[in-house]
Amino acid sequence: MKPLKWFTVLIFLFLIACSANDSNNDKSMEEMKLQTDEEKVYVGFAIDTLKEDRWYRDKEFVEKKVTELGGNIKTLAANGNQDVQIEQVKLLINEGIDVLIIVPSNSEAASKATKLAQESGVKVIAYDKLILGTPLDYYVSFDNEKVGEIQAQIVLDQIDEGNFAYIGGSETDNNAHLVRDGAMSILQPLIDSGKINLVYDEFTKDWSKDIAEENINKFLSSNTVTIDGIVTAYDGLAEGALAALGEQAGHIPISGQDAELNAIKRIIDGTQTGTVYKPIEALANQASILAMDIASGKDISTNATVNNGNMDVPTILLEPVQVTKENINETIIESGHYTEEEVYN
Ligand code: GAL
Repeated sequence: MKPLKWFTVLIFLFLIACSANDSNNDKSMEEMKLQTDEEKVYVGFAIDTLKEDRWYRDKEFVEKKVTELGGNIKTLAANGNQDVQIEQVKLLINEGIDVLIIVPSNSEAASKATKLAQESGVKVIAYDKLILGTPLDYYVSFDNEKVGEIQAQIVLDQIDEGNFAYIGGSETDNNAHLVRDGAMSILQPLIDSGKINLVYDEFTKDWSKDIAEENINKFLSSNTVTIDGIVTAYDGLAEGALAALGEQAGHIPISGQDAELNAIKRIIDGTQTGTVYKPIEALANQASILAMDIASGKDISTNATVNNGNMDVPTILLEPVQVTKENINETIIESGHYTEEEVYN
């Protein structure tokens, strides 16, 4: 072989050796990364939907807190579809999550996802909404009955007699039942005494603003009664009802839940009377700390138990806050839920 050819062969061999070395390095780097990732707690967050304002906040706060605490997290949202949610939970289990935090798409159907996770040794935390009829490890939420009590009180503070409407949430969400129970515990004595006449009392599919609007439109066009006060389970439902009320909006006291930005603006302009603010970051932090503590085998303390039809589930319950025009600054702005600029501009 001519010297030039030898030289080319040598360079070629040298390059092969380098690339083999590089790929070994890449491999061991990869392994090291995998190892550290493997040592980290892996949390799966199966979230019902990202369609409504508040759930983006939940997602962001949970992801931030778990990461801050040194865990890895993957969030999957099911767009309100319980079958999609079960598939997503299977995927998370296959990926090796240690703990599952789940906002169930359907309070009953989610028992299947819960069982699948538990069979794989994954502990399950129901987030915000309870999962019914199955052994469940933990539940973290707000006191939903209290939410309903506040919703009724907001309206009663303006008017405590006449024709009332109750616009409920989704029948497949346990929270819709709890907030209704809470509201009724306040309204029922007045209904019994004849001071209040409950002329409308319906759940609303998917907590949908549009369905609420449709329902109230139908009610108003097929009835001659006037409505004097409206207790609703959620700000989106209040928005739908106000659209149906048209010019009467602003003349009928109406409540909601979630302190959505549009609701706060309506409270300022006087079309909505009040809402219930639930500090989402506190809820997200509790769930994240709980998930990390469970995975690291720490002792867990809770402040309540809630029966889910199968057992008393160890629960952490947080307090909801009443919001009306008078306390927007102290509740919504001081807590950082929205800035002054967002609220007033
Ligand atoms: C409920 C929840 C409310 C509201 C509603 C609609 O379960 O407690 O805060 O977000 O769903 O999404």
